[in-house]
Amino acid sequence: MISKTFSITEIIRNRRTVKPAMMDPDLEIPIELVDELLENANWAPTHGFTEPWRFVIFSEGHRKVLGEKLQELYSKHTPDDQFRQDKIDKLGKNPILAPIVMAICMKRGDNPKIPELEEIEAVACAVQNMHLTAAAAGLGAFWSSPPILDTEEMREFLSLRESDRCLGLFYIGWLKEGENWPKSSRGPISDKISWFDKS
Ligand SMILES: Cc1cc2nc3c(=O)[nH]c(=O)nc-3n(C[C@H](O)[C@H](O)[C@H](O)COP(=O)(O)O)c2cc1C
Repeated sequence: MISKTFSITEIIRNRRTVKPAMMDPDLEIPIELVDELLENANWAPTHGFTEPWRFVIFSEGHRKVLGEKLQELYSKHTPDDQFRQDKIDKLGKNPILAPIVMAICMKRGDNPKIPELEEIEAVACAVQNMHLTAAAAGLGAFWSSPPILDTEEMREFLSLRESDRCLGLFYIGWLKEGENWPKSSRGPISDKISWFDKS
């Protein structure tokens, strides 16, 4: 085990989104830690044992290839009146700012009893396992979901089938010098629960 021992509550509450701009691309992530993230992803719950999560991992020079593909797809799929130079710049730059980027994919199973939504939910559980594992190790992570991921071209780029989906990009990296672990907040849980009382 790579991660230090924290309580589950500490890990959940300290997990944060760390954007690539805050990461040091030259600080290597030990392969044992990457393996631990992926192994923990693999222990997500899954209806019917379909295990639909797939991760396509980009490191070193392949990150630039990913950035270029994202820019190409943004140019192609964005209407002129919505085109933003800062967005396309970021799509190209983000993969280079993180030492490792994983395409988060859902491989659609062939069991018709399992709805696609449940396969997507299982992948989200797998990503949360990775994100919590990263947080426990002090490693930053960011789930990014630009709409261009859900395109035929992106599926082809990632060698996915028509029924599979790319659900996001998962950037991981250590904070660069001078950056602090981000803070976040949530509205009270009491606003989000109700006890059923219709008799
Ligand atoms: C499915 C999913 C997709 C997300 N996509 C984006 C995204 O495209 N851009 C972004 O800035 N943040 C994205 N986020 C991260 C959220 O912005 C982040 O979780 C939120 O700001 C709360 O911050 P925290 O994770 O540090 O608590 C995504 C999160 C999830 C779960």
